[in-house]
Amino acid sequence: MKQYTALTTTFLATCTIFLSACNGASTDPNAANNSPTNTATNAAATTPTANAIPIGIAVAQTSNVALLGQEQVAGAKIAEKYFNDQGGINGTPIKLVFQDTSGDEAGAINAFQTLINKNKVVGIVGPTLSQQAFSADPVAERVKIPVIGPSNTAKGIPEIGDYVARVSAPVSVVAPNSVKAALKQNPNIKKVAVFFAQNDAFSKSETEIFQQTVKDQSLELVTVQKFQTSDTDFQTQATNAINLKPDLIIISGLAADGGNLVRQLRELGYQGLIVGGNGLNTSNIFPVCKALCDGVLIAQAYSPEHPGEINANFRKAYVDQYKKEPPQFSAQAFAAVQVYVEALKDLDKKSKVNKLQLPQLRTDLNQQILSGKYKTPLGEIAFSPIGEIIQKDFYVAQIKIDKDGSNGKFTFIK
Ligand code: ALA
Repeated sequence: MKQYTALTTTFLATCTIFLSACNGASTDPNAANNSPTNTATNAAATTPTANAIPIGIAVAQTSNVALLGQEQVAGAKIAEKYFNDQGGINGTPIKLVFQDTSGDEAGAINAFQTLINKNKVVGIVGPTLSQQAFSADPVAERVKIPVIGPSNTAKGIPEIGDYVARVSAPVSVVAPNSVKAALKQNPNIKKVAVFFAQNDAFSKSETEIFQQTVKDQSLELVTVQKFQTSDTDFQTQATNAINLKPDLIIISGLAADGGNLVRQLRELGYQGLIVGGNGLNTSNIFPVCKALCDGVLIAQAYSPEHPGEINANFRKAYVDQYKKEPPQFSAQAFAAVQVYVEALKDLDKKSKVNKLQLPQLRTDLNQQILSGKYKTPLGEIAFSPIGEIIQKDFYVAQIKIDKDGSNGKFTFIK
């Protein structure tokens, strides 16, 4: 391993970010923006990315996890256009290089390796899941390339290494808010049933916080039901829980499984409040649970109404393109790209980034990221010395589905 690292470092040291020989093909999901595949013989000046700073985006564009990843692609692409329209990195544009992680660990590791070794990115935004981050982030850590987690909320993500930070506030900070909101809506809640996906690191981490919150609020935890993120049939677990007559059900899972579980709980007659965790925080669950999604409470690390110019601009760009309010996953992806842009701009003022060798640039960039303060759509954020996000404002939203069950939205609770 040591020898591999040394060889890689030597090779990387021969490349600066503007040499086309060190650039790979982009798998940008928007075909119109795709760069042609570069080869070692392409002259740098003839490719659209030759004079752009490549930032890797490794999120799930396929699999069920794309229900979250699609929103991240949208946010990142809005950021790319927005910051390039503003002049990029002191005149040099950024170029996002997308690599699909799909939904598992192997996909995330592959995407990271391609971005690091082939696309020669300066840093990575990704992956979508904490479950993937625990496998893929160490790959980046070993070669000292910054990673900003756009949605990894499990305990222990920044601790993976010096080069790993996140803009997604952890479950410990976000999750309790939704339980408190449920109690405000129904102060008579006494019995709580908790469900979680036992094959997913984030869900396991989040359920610990939910279960602790239930105890802290002096509620009775009547059952803990387990499932897999790949499950589609929840009849057994749902029936077990409903038989215990809970007043509140709390779910930690991902979008497809979580949406199906909500639907089946309602179909089996459960009428109490449901709290969904961060993996359900997408309107992409609406087609899964349709009218039965109505009323689900989900804590938020972003509000479209957050004051400030940058959020107004992000919100407008998103609404213009998608005709709905921007979701948290898009705002966080935008913020992650923004952190790279602003850190690169500040670094460039100290030492021109296009003159730095790539390993040096990645190291300096990492330090710059951790020392900055950023006015993002999430509000003003910064990082602790280990890369944990420092963020002030959190919210809770409730899903409201139209009468005919065809459309819905997240309504923010005051
Ligand atoms: N917040 C979810 C995770 O960390 C998406 O995996």
